[in-house]
Amino acid sequence: MAKTKTSFFCQNCGTQYAKWVGKCTACNEWNTIVEEVIQKEEKRSWKQTSPTKRVSKALKINEIAINEEDRIDTKNNELNRVLGGGLVKGSMTLLGGEPGIGKSTLLLQVALSIHRKVLYVSGEESQSQIKMRAERLNDQNTDCLILTETKTQNIFKTIEEVDPDVVVIDSIQTLHTESIDASPGSISQIRETTAELIKFAKETSTPVVLIGHITKEGTIAGPKILEHMVDVVLQFEGDRNHTYRILRAQKNRFGSTAELGIYEMQSVGLREVENPSEILISEKDESLSGTAIAATLEGMRPLMIEVQALVSTAVYGTPQRSATGYNIKRLNMILAVLEKRAGFRLGAKDVFLNIAGGISVDDPAIDLAVVASILSSNEDDAIAQDTCFAAEVGLAGEIRPVNRIDQRILEAEKLGFSTIIVSKFNKIAKSNYKIKVVLVSKIEEVYQQLF
Ligand code: TYD
Ligand code: MG
Repeated sequence: MAKTKTSFFCQNCGTQYAKWVGKCTACNEWNTIVEEVIQKEEKRSWKQTSPTKRVSKALKINEIAINEEDRIDTKNNELNRVLGGGLVKGSMTLLGGEPGIGKSTLLLQVALSIHRKVLYVSGEESQSQIKMRAERLNDQNTDCLILTETKTQNIFKTIEEVDPDVVVIDSIQTLHTESIDASPGSISQIRETTAELIKFAKETSTPVVLIGHITKEGTIAGPKILEHMVDVVLQFEGDRNHTYRILRAQKNRFGSTAELGIYEMQSVGLREVENPSEILISEKDESLSGTAIAATLEGMRPLMIEVQALVSTAVYGTPQRSATGYNIKRLNMILAVLEKRAGFRLGAKDVFLNIAGGISVDDPAIDLAVVASILSSNEDDAIAQDTCFAAEVGLAGEIRPVNRIDQRILEAEKLGFSTIIVSKFNKIAKSNYKIKVVLVSKIEEVYQQLF
């Protein structure tokens, strides 16, 4: 039997090494050298069920038939929406999220409610632990099979025996394959086991859903390549101290990534939140001055962020300016613009700015919310809770357009806002939004609009 051949590659520049080194001599990056398989053992894990000699035939694009039944209804409306209408047969979906956010709960719940034969493979919990969790959830699907296994070869053996309609893997970081030696969770194991599962999914048209842990930085642990390999990347997020959870698609080969699903974690599992505005209404019962909500984008993800400002008369000679989560230089610039271009006397005032939730924002679209929160605190007049902002502020006091405005408007609409204030110069593709889109070009207009 041929032995697996591996080699070491720099993940940054791709230089190949015969053995592991700490620093890449080509690009001088540290800790980027990773072992990778370059030739696998003869024994394949997922047996060739279809003849390898089958050659695909090129078809004219208008001759290709689309079969609508290629999607499996997950019986979970929020998940269906994020997926673009259900699980596509033969697709590979990755569900990422922080530990304890509810990934296992969500997928177990789906496994129990979907009326299909589901194989739920867990490498993290024992069968009885999963059974206990299932007892808490109300749905019962007698066709849900639980397997505790981490070796892909054994998983495939079970798959051949039971022939499931859907396979769930909890989690990809616990799997390992015989064909390489690296430990579970290492980059080469993740890559290899995912490749085996993708091969299985494509050859049998069985959808596979993987759970993936995410690192502290918020990316799915393992190489970026994992995100390239799978068809759909879902992110499950939320604050562990709050009960709301948001499911969004970071990548979706079969649907839009602008959709999001909202859940509430209850003692009996995750409840689908059909009317998202309830989150905003239930969390605050009175409007406070000095807060404004910005529709920002975090990478590919839209995010509504609350900006809080406090403007008060300076006690000491030199007024204090401080910003948490926002660039202090940019705050000073905005204050200068407000002073010079819009005539607000803020020179003798202390200004404190805080981005709620301890996040730091680079997106310039937050500028208008910063302006609004400062004005609101200065006037001591609250901004309506269902109003949000998305625009950049220029040195001349002009309200400038921001990118992907439709995605921001859509997110605000989805989250239950009734008004969004954006730049007049933004080209908005769609005109029939349910949310009221207010167009402004100068700070004075924003002021008139709000107070
Ligand atoms: P879990 O699905 O184990 O998270 P993950 O797989 O993402 O690590 O969910 C963990 C949390 O969910 C746990 O802290 C308890 C809570 N939970 C509930 O509040 N209600 C429930 O019905 C269940 C099953 C879990
Ligand atoms: Mg889990």
